[in-house]
Amino acid sequence: MLRIAVLVLVASVAHCMTNLVDDLGANQNTTQLSSLIAQAGLGDTLKGQGPFTILAPVDSAFAAIPKDDLNKLLADKNDLANTLKYHVLQGEIFSWDIVTGRLVHSITGHAIRVYKQGNDIYFNNAKAVAVDLESANGVIYLLDTVLDVPEGTIYEILEKPEYKLTQFKKAVDRVRYDRMLNSTYSSANYRHTLFVPSDAAFAKLDQSQVSRIFSNLNFASELVRYHLHLGTLHLKSLDHNGRITTLYTGHDIGVDISNNDIRLNHVAHMTESDIEADNGVVHIIDHVLIPSTLSGQIIG
Ligand SMILES: *[C@@H]1O[C@H](CO)[C@@H](O)[C@H](O)[C@H]1NC(C)=O
Ligand SMILES: *[C@@H]1O[C@H](CO)[C@@H](O)[C@H](O)[C@H]1NC(C)=O
Repeated sequence: MLRIAVLVLVASVAHCMTNLVDDLGANQNTTQLSSLIAQAGLGDTLKGQGPFTILAPVDSAFAAIPKDDLNKLLADKNDLANTLKYHVLQGEIFSWDIVTGRLVHSITGHAIRVYKQGNDIYFNNAKAVAVDLESANGVIYLLDTVLDVPEGTIYEILEKPEYKLTQFKKAVDRVRYDRMLNSTYSSANYRHTLFVPSDAAFAKLDQSQVSRIFSNLNFASELVRYHLHLGTLHLKSLDHNGRITTLYTGHDIGVDISNNDIRLNHVAHMTESDIEADNGVVHIIDHVLIPSTLSGQIIG
């Protein structure tokens, strides 16, 4: 009697487990992802191999991408496959295994940061809206946001002309932080958050003050370190009314968050946030943050 019951149970479990691709196809919230997987030719891999953990953006996440960006992505099959693979992790990761601050690795070799905020689980800047959906060859999380594939190292982001970060890059080069910010050593201990003032932010300062900061190695170093935090902080993991430690030890950045308004040191707003880097994350801000040691001497 008992043996029959066990056999029936085993048979029914095996029967109801279908593969990741079929399960995504059957889910009413992942129709866009399912068709993109087919379009990128990834169906066989995700059906037949594994186990994988799929971070599956729901349809509304794709709908939130600006049309031009989405079309650009769809036009290039390699790009599309690369973006989709970034959402596939090697092995099965269940929500109860998740430790805040740990890195998980996608099959593209990139690291993705996972953390808990209250009862919610985040992967980089995306919130999991459903977790632990089990398939025969893996597990699925539904995400509210499509993840951005890292654009390079933090230093390589500073180099990109479209972001207009030449002033801060100059300071980084001056104090020789270029190597550190270009390192892809894959460990949580070597990842940074950079709050980088745009060139427009530097233009708000008296230019003779900027020259004085840049010509003095100590000042330049304090300024650069004051904009860097050791560890990765996405927008959603900033503490409301909190403080952020910086590499300029003992000199924190103040954070005020009210409604959707985020200000650093009462003045700086983010003009672009959560730019993913291979070694951390970059937020562009509209004011230069001045540590107290410089404010007396430099800003008159
Ligand atoms: C899933 O789709 C249904 C129907 O379109 C919608 O009401 C629901 O909010 C969606 N859930 C998620 C997690 O996106
Ligand atoms: C940054 O690192 C990449 C390799 O990850 C290398 O190709 C590039 O030349 C480096 N840039 C600088 C300025 O060192």
